[in-house]
Amino acid sequence: MKAKIKKIQFFSSIIFLATVAFLLIFILTKDKKPTPAKTEEHSEKLILGFSQIGSESAWRTRNTQSIFEAAAENDIQILFDDAQQKQENQLKAIRSFIVYQVDVIAFVPIVEDGWDNVLQEAKDAGIPVILVDRQINADPSLYAGFLGEDGLEEGRRAARFLVKKCKNSKGPVNIYEMSGTENSSVVRDRAKGFREILSSDSKFKIIHSEDGDFLRSRGKEIAENLITSSHKKDGLYFEGQKIDAVYSHNDSMTLGMLDSIEAYGVQTKDTIIISVDAEQKSIDALKEGKLNCVVECNPNLGPMLMELVRKIAAGQEIPRVTYNPETFFTEYDDFSSYQPRGY
Ligand code: AHR
Repeated sequence: MKAKIKKIQFFSSIIFLATVAFLLIFILTKDKKPTPAKTEEHSEKLILGFSQIGSESAWRTRNTQSIFEAAAENDIQILFDDAQQKQENQLKAIRSFIVYQVDVIAFVPIVEDGWDNVLQEAKDAGIPVILVDRQINADPSLYAGFLGEDGLEEGRRAARFLVKKCKNSKGPVNIYEMSGTENSSVVRDRAKGFREILSSDSKFKIIHSEDGDFLRSRGKEIAENLITSSHKKDGLYFEGQKIDAVYSHNDSMTLGMLDSIEAYGVQTKDTIIISVDAEQKSIDALKEGKLNCVVECNPNLGPMLMELVRKIAAGQEIPRVTYNPETFFTEYDDFSSYQPRGY
């Protein structure tokens, strides 16, 4: 009899434990949602995490628009972050893209250095990275490729125009340079390409290089300082030397400089002014004779970026470097052939 009772107790315990185990499995799995990147809806669309550096210029605004427009046309979902000109914000954004498990990461590196760790984290997570607009100092195995402008060629184009413009001058030709964000690849390249061409003729002298951070407010301030410290109105001067040519690394700074030149009534028709970007406002200034040459930096990177994103997502290799086609505009052009710039 005792043995029979024990047998019943043994089977009751087994049934009880099986019921508890079943209930536990049911409760634990019932409400479990998949992580956002893996929902049904998300798995159909490619997700691109994109970190932009900010909106310091009309060029930058157009660059962001181009990427959003092309993403919509390609049915690619963008996770966007505006870094407000801070590298630390870009690092945070890229880390959040990794946590979200996006398919591809694209970012505009505000400066060249300091990306190795975060790129290694992306690599470890199996997420390919595309550099947009600016390049970096890092092991090339940490990213899939670069898409953007050829800054060296932009600098060379600016210098070739100056050489042509000054072909009848004995010199010296005093050049004042306004450069953009320090430690950014685009500044390095624009400066290098410019010097490369001018180095063959010693009459060209870069008398000063000032960091204007790609900002209109800085261009205005720089010109104001030059004007108020020289007390002269027949041109721009730096420490007593007349400036024959200004090489400005972007239109925002150039337009800021023109603001001060106009505000103080300084005569600059003999000053050669060369700018980079080719926004509509600087093309208008070229037509009005306020500028002499505008080198294009093409912000419309969206369509090419989406093509690269699709290729990478399909497991294909992309080129290490993809340059966007660019041109330049000068005072010698037939202005009637110009198309609206769109930015
Ligand atoms: O990196 C491209 C440069 O950044 C553009 O010339 C400038 O306008 C922008 O701020």
